[in-house]
Amino acid sequence: MRAAAEARWTEWFARMPPVRPDLAERARMAWWTLAVNLLPIAGREGLVPSKYGYVGVWNWDALFHAVALRHASPALAREQILFFLDHQLPDGRLPDVVHDHGVLADTTDLPRADHARLAEHVGSANGNGPTRAPVPVTKPPLAAWAVWKVHETDPDTGFLAAVYPGLVRAHAWWFAASDPDGDGLPEYLHPYSSGLDDSPIWDHGPRAEPPDLNSYLVLEADRLADIAGALGRPAEAAHWRSRAAAHAALLVARRWDGARFTTLAGGVPVPVRTALDLMPLFTGRLPAGVAAALERDLRSPAFWGERPVPTVAFDDPAFDPDAMWRGPVWLNVNYLLVEGLRRSGFPDTAAELRERTLAMVRDAGGLYEYWNPLTGARAARATSGFGWSAALFLDLAAER
Ligand code: GLC
Repeated sequence: MRAAAEARWTEWFARMPPVRPDLAERARMAWWTLAVNLLPIAGREGLVPSKYGYVGVWNWDALFHAVALRHASPALAREQILFFLDHQLPDGRLPDVVHDHGVLADTTDLPRADHARLAEHVGSANGNGPTRAPVPVTKPPLAAWAVWKVHETDPDTGFLAAVYPGLVRAHAWWFAASDPDGDGLPEYLHPYSSGLDDSPIWDHGPRAEPPDLNSYLVLEADRLADIAGALGRPAEAAHWRSRAAAHAALLVARRWDGARFTTLAGGVPVPVRTALDLMPLFTGRLPAGVAAALERDLRSPAFWGERPVPTVAFDDPAFDPDAMWRGPVWLNVNYLLVEGLRRSGFPDTAAELRERTLAMVRDAGGLYEYWNPLTGARAARATSGFGWSAALFLDLAAER
């Protein structure tokens, strides 16, 4: 028993990607965290967000986990993504959570005790007011992004062929079922679907459209183009490429007000300033002047400090350095922005953001769920041993 366990750990650590010396201790902790968070769930080996409070496989958590697992076991990375395609709904959406006894894919799947509280911020699919009807619950569209990252590390066209139809249906779902005003720019219909449950954006709900959602949809279309290309389907690849260009153009035309991207809640612009305002950088498809304005915004006192990026701007009245999604630094936001800065032509700012993020995690003492951007410490109610913090820290640290 003990010898077998020792052998498993030795083998796991042998596959840890190399990192520079000052990051080694925290990286080993991260690599260990990923292994201890593995559990048998719903017939697969799943990586849970944290054994402190989150036992199930969460949609975008799983995608971030896959980004790190690709270095050790591409098969295990693919498995995290397959959890959600296994349980794809007939209408094409991917569930928010998969657990042993079922999935969370709409509000009726939530525990009864949560219904009243959750109904407060929930928008109906075809109107403005709160609703009692079931509302779909999913997570931001990043599955094709994750699939392609695993593919870049370990090419497997068989896997691409297996997931491509499901990814196409998942992409289509947003336009068919999550765009209540039919303006071609989908919205989140539930706080959980945004992944930012407690963001002050939702104080203005129901239904919200921060600029990240349509940025992700642009990038997903580009990744569907890459996948179609790798599968030898040039006409489909060209179709997706032009969808990506058109969607980026629509986002800029409708939501860029000359100074910033607007966030809508309940169909109207709201004054909240969040890190998601900067996420159109993720597309790599912005006009140069717009991209430059976002990069300036990121480097302004609203978002830049020793520990960027606060999830709510430092100067926003809703900023709270300790409250979930109301100010603390989350590694997924930083990771996506580092990528976006690179794609948008700002390698130096990307490098600085990466460096500051790594230093914050190195110095804080653990793989927390989120960090206080003023002190760099674990935020008051954040859990620890958190999977995507471990995964994304490692992936950033492993880059040469
Ligand atoms: C919280 C986060 C959400 C995440 C989930 C599991 O609800 O707000 O983004 O997916 O925890 O970690």
